[in-house]
Amino acid sequence: MSFSLKNILLAGTALTLAACSQPADSNIGSEQPAADTEAQTQTSDADQMVNPEIWPDQQSAIGRDEAIEARIADILSQMTVEEKVGQVIQADIASVTPEEVREYNLGSVLNGGSSAPNNDNYSPPEDWLALADEFWLASTDTADGGVGIPAIWGTDAVHGHSNIVGATLFPHNIGLGAMRDPAIMEEIGEITAREMLVTGLDWTFAPTVAVVRNDRWGRTYESYSEDPAIVAEYAPRIVIGIQGQPGTDDFLSDEHMISTTKHFLGDGGTEDGVDQGSNLASEEDLRDIHAAGYPAAIAEAGIQTVMPSFNDWHGRKMHGYKELLTDVLVDRMGFDGFTVGDWNGHGQVAGCTNISCATAFNAGLDMFMAPDSWKGLYENTLAQVEDGTISMERLDEAVSRILRVKLRAGVFEAGLPSERPYAGQWELLGSAEHREVARRAVRQSLVLLKNNDGTLPLDPSLNILMAGDGADNIGKQSGGWTINWQGTDNENSDFPGGTSIYDGIAAAAEAAGGSVTLSEDGSFDDKPDVAIVVFGEDPYAEFQGDRANLDFTDDGPLETMRALQAEGIPVVSVFLSGRPMFTSPEINASDAFVAAWLPGSEGVGVADVLMAKVDGSVNHDFTGTLSFSWPKTAVDDVLNVGDADYDPLFAYGYGLTYGDEETIGDLSEDSGLGDAALVSLNTLIVAGNANSPWRMVITDGEGENQISGSTGETPSGSLSVVPADYEAQEDTSIVTWTAPARFYISGQPVDLTRQTNGDMVVEFTYQVTGDATGSTSLFTECGTDCGATLDVSGQVADLAGAGWQTSQVKLSCFAEAGLDVSKVTVPFGISSEGPLTVQIQSAEIVSNGGDADCNL
Ligand code: BGC
Ligand code: BGC
Repeated sequence: MSFSLKNILLAGTALTLAACSQPADSNIGSEQPAADTEAQTQTSDADQMVNPEIWPDQQSAIGRDEAIEARIADILSQMTVEEKVGQVIQADIASVTPEEVREYNLGSVLNGGSSAPNNDNYSPPEDWLALADEFWLASTDTADGGVGIPAIWGTDAVHGHSNIVGATLFPHNIGLGAMRDPAIMEEIGEITAREMLVTGLDWTFAPTVAVVRNDRWGRTYESYSEDPAIVAEYAPRIVIGIQGQPGTDDFLSDEHMISTTKHFLGDGGTEDGVDQGSNLASEEDLRDIHAAGYPAAIAEAGIQTVMPSFNDWHGRKMHGYKELLTDVLVDRMGFDGFTVGDWNGHGQVAGCTNISCATAFNAGLDMFMAPDSWKGLYENTLAQVEDGTISMERLDEAVSRILRVKLRAGVFEAGLPSERPYAGQWELLGSAEHREVARRAVRQSLVLLKNNDGTLPLDPSLNILMAGDGADNIGKQSGGWTINWQGTDNENSDFPGGTSIYDGIAAAAEAAGGSVTLSEDGSFDDKPDVAIVVFGEDPYAEFQGDRANLDFTDDGPLETMRALQAEGIPVVSVFLSGRPMFTSPEINASDAFVAAWLPGSEGVGVADVLMAKVDGSVNHDFTGTLSFSWPKTAVDDVLNVGDADYDPLFAYGYGLTYGDEETIGDLSEDSGLGDAALVSLNTLIVAGNANSPWRMVITDGEGENQISGSTGETPSGSLSVVPADYEAQEDTSIVTWTAPARFYISGQPVDLTRQTNGDMVVEFTYQVTGDATGSTSLFTECGTDCGATLDVSGQVADLAGAGWQTSQVKLSCFAEAGLDVSKVTVPFGISSEGPLTVQIQSAEIVSNGGDADCNL
């Protein structure tokens, strides 16, 4: 199949439109009718047809069971249309009560990454089980005459039961891919299922079987490999671990639970690695690369749920792609479970909103994930069934698929969650036996990139210095999807039973008469024999991890390494990251360099490999090899084994062992970024929207709210953002303050030293309308408690009603006011007491036009 330039352009247009037509309203109970939007143009490319004939023609590993089919028919015949509609809707526990689950007969609940019992991510496991009981009791209550179908609870147990304090946390998938060990995948699946059973849950939204081809994507670490072969090999094994072996009594027995392969289809192949973006692969590549995990998960493991993806394929969103969701997934690949949508993913389909999307349902989406939008969606879906937009036949089909999975999983017989086998056996959460498997996975996932002069393994009787902010930091080594969505703000004490990398090194040294000193900045009084610097990316999830390039921008660790080497101290670097990155300067400044990925709660596994036995012999050798190619420059974002002009720094499959005597010479430290890449990071706001990877954020002090599609409001209502037209349709955002609040552009730290030294400015185009009497300032930030503010109250008041302006403010003004320009996280922000209304079109870091100063 080929695609023309026209298609690409159309897809590009569609993206822009889709971004502007984000549903404005996702409020609970909002009765807003389905709004048809201009985003209709999304579904355009008539020649992007799917040819089902080229896809695998196969059956699920689970055969048809006539007894189950008879029960489905029987249950269906007793259900009212309202109950059927309830069955196809899943709500988030932060936005639904057990009472509402009873009233609306909802089929399922989930906890999103940051939803937990009592609105507290650190709620003890007992509270999870108690809440599971409440939802189960509510859903099975037939006092109002319903059938009482048990609701099932789904969660993102993506690296162990990772929302639960005290659970065993395995390495994220990128580390597991480096192991090349399909057998342990089954054990990991079993343990994850068992720990979930302790807390009474039914279903995990894992594994992710994305085959990531652009490592700028913030979900690269959720992928086993850029190589479809590894994903195809792993997917069925972990699913069998979670669900049990098909064709045996073990399948979905009370030792197991329902698993999900996600995100169907093409999530790892979006342009520029943009989360929820556009996949422009050919149909053959979609099949051979991105779909790799699905045929085996279905035919070998009998996967029971599949989650459609947020991304589009050539401009058309997956949630509405009938030819792929139904014709390919069900009719060709033989998938016989049900599809569950992604987080309001249906709302992004052309013509849909979060509370109305017959298109997705008719395309083959069986259960909507409608976290906060479920009530409006329920009302609208019911109306669409009543007016025939959705046929009763299609509704019955979706409900049947959900019932089929529930019956296979035995949820009708399982009874109260707290009375099921394993429930409440708290000692199983993070048990020594489970942690041992995770520790083994950590050992196997480490990849040794450099070991000049046999620096490793370390004699445990040495005096060792441990530096870097990752040395004693279980939160950092665990990454995103850990206790909360982003995995941020977790302390070591939030991982009872877990170990940091320092813990492991210290224990090994202590046992051998050595010593370990922890010093984050690498300073010391007594010169150590060797230093271990543990550094890397801070936790992130989804779009918050999207990057403009693969540069590792934190210079702190590099300075530490260089300072240590200058003192003649050998440096062992342990790099924590969710992807391979341009780290040649750090590799040069290290004698040994280990890619440790995101190992999870068992940091001790790192010491198992780095530290020799007391007698100096190898304890555990390195066995991990790269499942992602390591880049030579920061712009080698699309670098995959098999590329025609494949030119990695370390190739796919590379990984040293202690037997190797390879010496890595000086590497080029040219990041390849040049000026072009700076330009894209310098663009902050385009057409009223944040320019990726920058995000638009608002806050009234209570948490931060990210804005997408120029629409949002702070919880207190102190600030709102709505899209508006200026020179083109919805090319600006109107930001209105009624009380103190902040509006800003935020992202990962960027080094603006060059821009500041080069006298560059922040330029923004805007108008001030209405009153502007409150105090207002421009602000920038460089992380927590770091930033600068420029008071512009008087100037803003003068500009009120004066029409469109383009202002330039020098970056050096912020630097003089306290901004550390080497690590800017907020390059542009407006803080006001209100009242204030600013309509903003763009913001950019550009050259000084000549007369810029510190005023507007
Ligand atoms: C993610 C899914 C996840 C779901 C529920 C979505 O934003 O894309 O992977 O399963 O949220 O947390
Ligand atoms: C939820 C995640 C979800 C995400 C979608 C978050 O608020 O906690 O589970 O994946 O929103 O963007």
